[in-house]
Amino acid sequence: MTASISENLLEWYDRNARDLPWRLPPGSALPDDPAWPYRVWLSEVMLQQTTVAAVKPYFAKFLEIWPTVEALAAASDDDVMAAWAGLGYYSRARNLLKCARAVAGQGGFPATEAELRRLPGLGDYTAAAVAAIAFGSHAVVVDANVERVVARLFAIDEPLPGARKAIRAAAATITPDTRAGDFAQAMMDLGSHVCTTRTPRCLICPLANACEGRKAGEPERLPVKPPKKQVPERRGTAFWITRARGTQVWLVTRPAQGMLGGMRALPDDGWSAQADGSGKVPLAGEWRRLGVVRHGFTHAQLTLEVRALETLSQPRGEGRWWPVKRIGEAGLATLFAKAARLAIAAEG
Ligand code: ADE
Repeated sequence: MTASISENLLEWYDRNARDLPWRLPPGSALPDDPAWPYRVWLSEVMLQQTTVAAVKPYFAKFLEIWPTVEALAAASDDDVMAAWAGLGYYSRARNLLKCARAVAGQGGFPATEAELRRLPGLGDYTAAAVAAIAFGSHAVVVDANVERVVARLFAIDEPLPGARKAIRAAAATITPDTRAGDFAQAMMDLGSHVCTTRTPRCLICPLANACEGRKAGEPERLPVKPPKKQVPERRGTAFWITRARGTQVWLVTRPAQGMLGGMRALPDDGWSAQADGSGKVPLAGEWRRLGVVRHGFTHAQLTLEVRALETLSQPRGEGRWWPVKRIGEAGLATLFAKAARLAIAAEG
């Protein structure tokens, strides 16, 4: 029974695998090339909490600028943060660089799940995914898609996150000894295209006959989600400070520690601390209110007011004047890119 689950799934994958830039065609031998684990690792870090469509252009850009892990290891923090801008969850970019430096220092990626797990920023999921996909090791790879498939397949109806242990144990029973990378990615494809959250397409599912969740009815009920956490509302202010008739804007680099650490940004009033902004203004003057932008973080929903001032003075603290025309190259995190768009539209 369990053997046939992996066989059915792999057969389905042979016919339906998505063609993605970080993938080999199903059934391929693993390349004996140090750039291969680098590509797999890079894609897996980018794909955490981020869609395939959003990742594709970033994956291409990173490989073009930094084709090897050694090249990435030699990059500056600023360049990597700027190249990551817009992809979100910026701690991933900081860890990416730390990890690249560790890997380059030890002469390449280690091949076992346990050694991969010790690298900076590699959690259980990424270590297992890289072990399976890059090195063909038998590793149990469980992301949110796999969690959903397995919870349904075995009708695990304990709520998340408590169900994770049972889901992992069940996933281990169907993970085959061969084609580890194909199996992991087949589960991901099945989860994202067939065993979907709201309306699973059981009629075309290669595992439908084995699926206990389907037999019990309402497979879409699984996995049972914990009650939704209310995220706090925060308010803050970002400052659009210009000189030379609006052609240059004052940008700062955020402190390395804390929210959006190390990212280039507009100055703000300190909203990113636990409480609302302090109301601190970086320059005295006749500030104009341009409007607000909204942005959802995992831990807060932010309403950011954007205020503008044209000035002849130098704002307090470190920063640099940046040509407004080239704001797209500044590597602003999405929140500040939204604020800049609003300011540019408002200022005409
Ligand atoms: N999500 C995470 N890893 C993935 C992969 N290798 N292919 C498709 N989606 C993914």
